Amino acid sequence: MTAKTYEQLRSVRWFAHDDWRSSAHRSRTMQMGYDPVDWEGKPIIAIINTWSDAQPCHAHFKDRVQFVKRGVLQAGGFPVELPALSLSENWVKPSTMLYRNMLAMETEELLRSHPIDGAVLMGGCDKTTPALVMGAISMNLPFIFLPAGPMLRGNYAGQYLGSGTDMFKYWDERRAGNITKEQWLDMESGIARSYGHCMTMGTASTMTAVAEAMGLSLPGSSSIPAADSAHQRMSTQCGRRVVEMVWEDLTPEKIITPAAVDNALTVAMATGCSTNTIIHLIAMARRAKIPLELDDFDRIGRTTPVLANIRPSGTTYLMEDFFYAGGIRALMKQLGDKLDPSAITVTGRPLVEGLAETPIYNEDVIRPLSNPVYHEGSLTVLKGNLCPDGAVIKPAACDPKFYRHRGPALVADSYPELKKIVDDPDYPMTPDTVLVLRNAGPQGGPGMPEWGMLPVPKALLKLGLRDMVRISDARMSGTSYGACVLHVAPEAYVGGPLALLKTGDIIELDVPGRRLEMLVSEEELARRRAEWVPPEPRYERGYGFMYTKHIEQADKGCDFDFLRTEFGRPNDEPVI
Ligand code: FES
Ligand code: MG
Repeated sequence: MTAKTYEQLRSVRWFAHDDWRSSAHRSRTMQMGYDPVDWEGKPIIAIINTWSDAQPCHAHFKDRVQFVKRGVLQAGGFPVELPALSLSENWVKPSTMLYRNMLAMETEELLRSHPIDGAVLMGGCDKTTPALVMGAISMNLPFIFLPAGPMLRGNYAGQYLGSGTDMFKYWDERRAGNITKEQWLDMESGIARSYGHCMTMGTASTMTAVAEAMGLSLPGSSSIPAADSAHQRMSTQCGRRVVEMVWEDLTPEKIITPAAVDNALTVAMATGCSTNTIIHLIAMARRAKIPLELDDFDRIGRTTPVLANIRPSGTTYLMEDFFYAGGIRALMKQLGDKLDPSAITVTGRPLVEGLAETPIYNEDVIRPLSNPVYHEGSLTVLKGNLCPDGAVIKPAACDPKFYRHRGPALVADSYPELKKIVDDPDYPMTPDTVLVLRNAGPQGGPGMPEWGMLPVPKALLKLGLRDMVRISDARMSGTSYGACVLHVAPEAYVGGPLALLKTGDIIELDVPGRRLEMLVSEEELARRRAEWVPPEPRYERGYGFMYTKHIEQADKGCDFDFLRTEFGRPNDEPVI
């Protein structure tokens, strides 16, 4: 099926005219050693590569991009590699979230300003997936998202180690004095053994699964481990397929329908997804003009159980096991008619096509609906006078005894203040204390850092406790766990009610009732509000200044207001 002719391609405007400007483009392309035969009659495919020396999760992209190029050439396209911000979760401070929208803007503008007809987006480490996808959706050129793939299972003293999750778990043991420094160093070197993104069901694994379920990746691609040769073959297939997509004019607006977004949400819930999924999926859907709300997560969460028995929601397995058990396609098969059959993928075919024949090799790893890991979806949305615009908890990854909890707040205004509390073995508190960190949201953090799994204080660790109710306007790593209430909106820094909470106020958490309240009277809250002094702005120049002017709250996906599709007239094509 050909919907487009060569003359209709975008790149023709750069290359095909008999005028001075086209001549300059051609001449400077020949400067790189190309002949006209390399581009004439061919779509130009951008390969947006988030490789860098600071990005261990994408270390293989330097090599893998060659496979994508091979695929593009095989299918008669002209591949052009365009490097983009690599957003390393590992090195970037205070948080990659501060820069997600920067990569989204970069992606959109790279595609807009170059003679590009279609794109392969290479990402996977947490924010890179939503950022690349958001930018490419806004540009609306045919694209395929190429997931980096999870790294190999971690290994320490004959045991599997899961990225993040086990680091957090054993660090508590180290703080409790149960692990020596030598043992710890062995873990440090054993937990990340190969390139690829985190191999727990953290933000990276859930966001690549979400992108695939939305129809934006080749079927099955998101579960392939980075170090498996199937990943190289998949990369070549991406290159081949995107060229066809250009001719078919298979743009993202034809793929990302409300049905596709619902499928992405359903699959996310069944994976036991990272809490970060909420923010990113809302932002991605809204770029596609689909007004996804927090309540949609609750709606789908109530009827979609967690089926992927992968840490941190599951207890045993990791992404490598998930792949061997059949991968994301097997999970989709288990979901049966919960997936909307009307949605299509980058293949141009229905997402559900072929699921009936998909093998499932291990039903302990990828559970059937009759034997879920957790009976509801992994995320629950809370509302109440502490979070009028919502907050999020991941009940599948916390002890059920906290689902209904009442206790006194212990409030820290900043991370250094929190650190003093948690590191003091004699700080006064009881097991029912609710530890609170504020000013850690989109503006306050800034960048809404992953501080939300507040460390369990030493005063409780020495009593043998490893979990407690914690509340913040921060996010937490998708590999984290515990009774952590996150994404409180509006955040304290902009004057959300969390700013009015005082140490000693009683907090009531009711997960089945979807409620989070502070038991403080309206009159008292009004009095505190009148006394509240807004904090000093974090930035007076540069990107941070622009960020604080335009960032939206967590319940709206933390996009910049001016990148919303309805913000203004769409960008026109250039005049020349
Ligand atoms: Fe890159 Fe976890 S650090 S995915
Ligand atoms: Mg992470």
